[in-house]
Amino acid sequence: MQSPDDTPTLVAPERPLRIVEVGMGQLDVIKRLNRVIFGEERVINTFERADLMMLLASLGDEPVGFKIGYKESRETFYSAKGGVLAAYRRRGISRQLLYAMTERIRRKGYRILAYDTFPNMHPGMTVMGLEEGFRVTRADYNPTYKDFRLRFEKKI
Ligand SMILES: CC(C)(COP(=O)(O)OP(=O)(O)OC[C@H]1O[C@@H](n2cnc3c(N)ncnc32)[C@H](O)[C@@H]1OP(=O)(O)O)[C@@H](O)C(=O)NCCC(=O)NCCS
Repeated sequence: MQSPDDTPTLVAPERPLRIVEVGMGQLDVIKRLNRVIFGEERVINTFERADLMMLLASLGDEPVGFKIGYKESRETFYSAKGGVLAAYRRRGISRQLLYAMTERIRRKGYRILAYDTFPNMHPGMTVMGLEEGFRVTRADYNPTYKDFRLRFEKKI
């Protein structure tokens, strides 16, 4: 874009994406993102989980997304919830959160990453899961959400 006197307008450089693991001390940040993205107070039912992992994605200093998971069994790590602010979607942030979680749990010795998703409500995690080599391992109807739910798993 050019300003009226033809001086080129300065465009802010792209802010770097940072993904860090956070503890309960930063739960407020996750809660705020969760409220904006999902419109609900509940993040996950309980944080009393073995190997609880909370990843926070920020663009510069601005938190823009999160992903939370925990141990489901000796082999399987369960990604319970995650999302990215609408203004910052389709830039690969969720994919980077997935990669960051995968890398961390692989180092902890997990063999499988699993998650559930509602494809009618949120198609993104279904499309990305299939692209990233996940397989559907269960499909059912969830009476609470009155919609169909898929479970995806991938050997990591
Ligand atoms: C789903 C969600 C986390 C994706 O976040 P994102 O940062 O936009 O995802 P990415 O940019 O990393 O997308 C990776 C791939 O996923 C797929 N994808 C993402 N959003 C999609 C959508 N709305 N429809 C179809 N495919 C989608 C695409 O294949 C995309 O790759 P591409 O952009 O190169 O085509 C985000 O849309 C969101 O927070 N949605 C609301 C909450 C939600 O659905 N959470 C998950 C519940 S299980």
